[in-house]
Amino acid sequence: MAEVTVTAEREYKVRITGDWRGDLSPWASKRSRVAIVFPATMRDLIPRIEFNGVEVVELEIPDGEFGKSPSVLQYLWNELGKNGFTRSDLIVAIGGGTVTDIAGFLAASWLRGIDWIAIPTTLAGMVDASVGGKTGINSPFGKNLIGAFHSPISVIIDPSWLKTLSDRDFAAGLAEVIKCGFIDENQILELLGSRSLQSIREDSSRVLNLIEQAVTTKAKVVSLDFKESELREILNYGHTFGHAIEKVSQYSIRHGEAVSIGMVFVAELAAAHGLISSELVEQHRQVLKGVGLPISLGAIDGANNWDALYSAMALDKKSRGNSIRLVALSEIGNCTRIEDVSEADLKSAYEKVLL
Ligand code: GLY
Repeated sequence: MAEVTVTAEREYKVRITGDWRGDLSPWASKRSRVAIVFPATMRDLIPRIEFNGVEVVELEIPDGEFGKSPSVLQYLWNELGKNGFTRSDLIVAIGGGTVTDIAGFLAASWLRGIDWIAIPTTLAGMVDASVGGKTGINSPFGKNLIGAFHSPISVIIDPSWLKTLSDRDFAAGLAEVIKCGFIDENQILELLGSRSLQSIREDSSRVLNLIEQAVTTKAKVVSLDFKESELREILNYGHTFGHAIEKVSQYSIRHGEAVSIGMVFVAELAAAHGLISSELVEQHRQVLKGVGLPISLGAIDGANNWDALYSAMALDKKSRGNSIRLVALSEIGNCTRIEDVSEADLKSAYEKVLL
C-alpha cells in the first residue's frame, strides 16, 4: 500500500490500496446519506454498497464524454434534491475520469460544496482526473469549459480495477503517465524503457510503481498551484492540441490517444523553436508508439481539418486573449511556454503529425 499526500484546498491522501470498499467504509459510515455516482457500463461490477444506518443512493449516469453534460448534471442535482442531501452528506464517484469530473462538479455545486471521494477505475482516472480537484462538464463550445476546483476528501486507487480495462484503455491511461515522465524528474521513462504494453500490464509491481510516480508528480504540482495560476499548466502538456483533436473528432477517440498525438505535435513545435532536439522529439514517438498509442492523426475520423483544429485550440483554457499559449519542454523534467505562436508555425507542426 502506498500513500501520497496532496495539499490543495485541503490536505488529503491518495491511497493506492487493494481494497476500495474497506477504505471507503470509515468515510461513508459517518454520514446520513451517501450518493454513489457510477457509469451505466459498471452497474454489474459494483456490488450493492451498504453502510449501517446510512441511506445509500445509487446514481447511474451515461458513459463517456457525452455523459459529462448539463442535462446529466441537472438529473444529478434533482436526485440530490429529492433525497434531501445536506452539507454533511457525501458523494462518491466510482468510474473513469468522466465520472469523477462530473461527480466532483456535482459536489462542488451542491449547497456551494459538499464532500466527495474519488474511486477511479481507469488508469487515466487514477493518475490524472481523480487527483487535484479539477471538476467539470463539457460545453458545446469545448471540453471542460464549465467547472470548479473542488478537492476530494480522499482518493482511493484500487489497482484491481485495471483488470477490467481493454488494452486500448490501458494504453490511453499510459499517455498521462508518460506525460508525467516528460514534464517532471522521476523514473517513469526508465520504468517504461522500450517495454511493450503487454509486458507492462503483466508486471503488476511495475504498474504500481508507475501509478505512484505519476500521482506523486501530480500531487507535487497541484499542491504548489491548485488553481492553475501558472505551474499547474504543465500537467496539460500535449493537451492544447489533444483537446482540439477530441473536439474535432467528436470525442471518437480516447483522451489519452489525443494527448499522445498532442505531445508529439508540441514536441515538433518546440524543436522548430530551437527548444529541444530532434532526438527528444523522436523519443516521444518511440515511447508513445511503443505502448501502442497513436502518434499521428492518420485515420482519425474528421481530425484532418486544420481550420477546425486551430479554432478549437484558440478556445483552450491555456490561451490568453487572442493568442494561443502552449506548454512545451525545454528538456526532460523542465517545462516552458510557447506564446504568441504564429498560425504558420502551428500548421507546420500539424503537418508533421498528419501521417
Ligand atoms: N489534468 C490536468 C490537471 O489536473 O491540471
